Amino acid sequence: MTSRAYVSSNEIPEKALAIVRGVAEASIHAADGPPSREELLREVAGVDGLLCMLTERIDGELLDAGKNLKIVSSMSVGYDHVDLEAATKRGVLVTNTPGVLTEATADTTLGLILAVARRIVEGDRYLRDGSWRLKWSPMMMVGRDVHGKTLGIYGMGRIGNSVARRATGFGMRIIYHNRSRDEESEKENGAEYRSKEELLRESDFLSVHVPLNAETRNSIGAKELAMMKPTAFLINTSRGGVVEERALVEALKAGTIAGAGLDVFEKEPIEVDNPLIGMKNVVLTPHIGSGSVESRTAMAVLAAENLAAGLKGERPPNLLNPETFKGRE
Ligand code: GLV
Repeated sequence: MTSRAYVSSNEIPEKALAIVRGVAEASIHAADGPPSREELLREVAGVDGLLCMLTERIDGELLDAGKNLKIVSSMSVGYDHVDLEAATKRGVLVTNTPGVLTEATADTTLGLILAVARRIVEGDRYLRDGSWRLKWSPMMMVGRDVHGKTLGIYGMGRIGNSVARRATGFGMRIIYHNRSRDEESEKENGAEYRSKEELLRESDFLSVHVPLNAETRNSIGAKELAMMKPTAFLINTSRGGVVEERALVEALKAGTIAGAGLDVFEKEPIEVDNPLIGMKNVVLTPHIGSGSVESRTAMAVLAAENLAAGLKGERPPNLLNPETFKGRE
């Protein structure tokens, strides 16, 4: 009997869809944007595999609705939208797409560092709105140096490492905090390990690269922001939930820190009345850290390969809950 799969986005490149179609009869969400919860619950009812995005909440209710589900393959490296324990309990394999988006996300991170420190987006707006009247003046739109500054990496995983590698090319000094020491990065990038508090106190730029989980949720709040230098910038290309957004807004208003470059938010899309929108000392992008054609295509292909492997009864390359595969190899 052929397997059945549901793909929750109509923007998956043909190259990836062909892989899904090679192993399953595929039904694809037709409308733009993510499916509604109702649609998702209805669609998973009849399928063996789900290829989803980070916009879909995969919890016990959904897994119960998908009573034939063998695998949930998310086209994302982050999997905070998936209740891994609930899936494991039901024997459903869960996969993500690490690796293929590392470099693109590191590029975006550096882009935010440069943009916020050197006021590039603000400068673009200034020019376009007709504010540029004086040909040149010594202190017009001056920002802060990036070279010679200390970059603090909060979470030295794949992406943190790639950011460190790039930042050394910009003449930055690297310090980091991680659950465990990363001797390779220490050797390669001269990265120095710090306690979380030391990291907060010493960084000129603090870049968030931890995954969102119970331990890291709101782990940068008012107390942590107060430890940062008033000249420091916070950069977040991980998940909005790691930073307490209300505390960040207050810190930016009060001058506790100098600015922020944010690609992720507590609520996405952000509300039109989100106070961050009116702030000059922030650069905001709509969760496009991995947003290059090359990376998103590679993520889709990897998600399809994971799904296909799971549906064929093989171990998917990026299995997050190996317990579900025990005894099957
Ligand atoms: C993007 O945020 C991802 O987790 O892949």
